[in-house]
Amino acid sequence: MFSATTITIFGFLPITLAYLLCTLFFHKKEKTINNKKPPGPPTLPIIGNLHKLGNLPHRSLQLLSKKYGPIMSLQFGQIPFIVISSSKAAELFLKTHDIYFASRPKSQGSEIMSYGSKGMAISEYGPYWRSVRKLCTLNLLSALKVEMFGPIRKEELGVLVKSLEKASLVGEVVNVSEAVENLIEDIMYKMILGRSKYEQFDLKGLIQEAMVLFGSFNVADYVPWLSAFDIQGLTRACKKMSKSLDEVLEVIITEHEESTNVEKTRHEDFIDILLSIMHHNIDKENEQSHAIDRTNIKAILLDVILGAIDTSANVIGWTFSELLRHPKVMKNLQNEIEKEVGNKRMVEEKDLKKFKYLDMVIDESLRLYPVGPLLLPRECRESVTIDGYFIKEKTRLIVNAWAIGRDPNVWSENAEEFYPERFVDKTMNYQGQDFECIPFGSGRRRCPGIHLGLVTVRFVIAQLVHCFNWELPSNITPSNLNMEEKFGLSIPRAQHLHAIPSYRLACDVNHE
Ligand code: HEM
Ligand SMILES: *[C@@H]1O[C@H](CO)[C@@H](O)[C@H](O)[C@H]1NC(C)=O
Repeated sequence: MFSATTITIFGFLPITLAYLLCTLFFHKKEKTINNKKPPGPPTLPIIGNLHKLGNLPHRSLQLLSKKYGPIMSLQFGQIPFIVISSSKAAELFLKTHDIYFASRPKSQGSEIMSYGSKGMAISEYGPYWRSVRKLCTLNLLSALKVEMFGPIRKEELGVLVKSLEKASLVGEVVNVSEAVENLIEDIMYKMILGRSKYEQFDLKGLIQEAMVLFGSFNVADYVPWLSAFDIQGLTRACKKMSKSLDEVLEVIITEHEESTNVEKTRHEDFIDILLSIMHHNIDKENEQSHAIDRTNIKAILLDVILGAIDTSANVIGWTFSELLRHPKVMKNLQNEIEKEVGNKRMVEEKDLKKFKYLDMVIDESLRLYPVGPLLLPRECRESVTIDGYFIKEKTRLIVNAWAIGRDPNVWSENAEEFYPERFVDKTMNYQGQDFECIPFGSGRRRCPGIHLGLVTVRFVIAQLVHCFNWELPSNITPSNLNMEEKFGLSIPRAQHLHAIPSYRLACDVNHE
């Protein structure tokens, strides 16, 4: 019996030879046509520049860009990439020429998990993606809808404050990472699915596993002839995961269908909204418009779950860590909130618009810790020449948002420092106008959940800081708190955050 690995090794030799011949041939050809490619490091056969990525690709790519410039060529496996590392270049690719890069590449895992690109996040550019995107921005993520779901955020955050008040009575060290993760999961699951706990299955665990699978590196996506062998077992794992998720979503959707006529006591959630527009034409002005069916609904739900939870939780984790490292900033923030709210009640969402310093703190945190450091990959839809460089159809685009936010040419010498005051005279616009810092991406593919994400993050931070004073555990000082990150679909802190709350309001939320 041949194992997959043996076949791979026997397959390697002739293919390597063929590959080398091809590279030689094409190199010659490229020189004669004067197709200038952006500069980049030399490539190895088969793997290209994959060996340069390391464990924290955003950092490795930033280093490379210092040598090769803000627009570089790299090759991962067989696939050519352009990597963007400055705000000027980002504007060129995501605004001026955005239409060429408004598509996403297909990958094996995401094809399987999204029911064959039936969702939004990884679908290729075209009428289907446009319809689904419009449907979601209008019906699920508009400012009006975000406000409509406000009571869920208030209630869940209230529950957390109560349990933290209890912890503060006994001076307990709180696992902040865990508390925030649970809070965001409860908020988002209630908004999307109607509830966050099920007896029959472990929804949270399943989605966390799916996130890991989704974010894992699949060699077959870069060396396509390997895909038939599934040497990492990822295709099998994705199929299994997709089946489990489908079973769970079926149960949840059926539960909604059966309850619509009977009891209307619970909040309306994303599933109710999607079911109410199922089979309707999404875009009335557009003849080609698609109607969504049950499969589309499941794919959209998965996208929204995967897009909303880890991102929001990680932004809160990073912001909270920086506040603990900068007690003065924490104090300023508490003062700003107390001036408006007093010390006898909790923060309400409608207070948020008065907190200028809070916005500065969150902007500064998003600048240093864009939780999607390389955004989501784009794919060039047709060959184009930009800034004198020829970029071939199907080339992939990586935008290093992490490097852009830390560019000393834009953010001055203290770019690596957490310093919210730099935003005193600058209000960030994440809807596509500013390119100095792009934590939500930009252009047609920018994050459609910006408003929901920002409201959630601001509200949680404001409440936690207003209701409690926070201290680090005795063995950690503000200057030695570990700030290392772990790479994934959304980057979290490498180490979990722990802190000790002490309740600071003059009212007892546990006896209200
Ligand atoms: C603070 C939290 C968030 C951050 C930092 C964030 C960041 C991002 C980034 C960097 C992208 C890729 C943009 C690009 O390629 O240019 C993205 C796309 C996306 N995000 Fe978010 N996001 C956040 C919250 C949310 C929320 C709350 C939702 C949904 C409910 C969401 C849903 C999506 C979806 C569906 C896409 C894919 C859009 C498309 O391809 O058309 N995100 N997000
Ligand atoms: C803190 O919470 C995380 C989950 O967010 C968990 O993995 C970790 O083990 C917890 N740490 C401790 C010391 O309980």
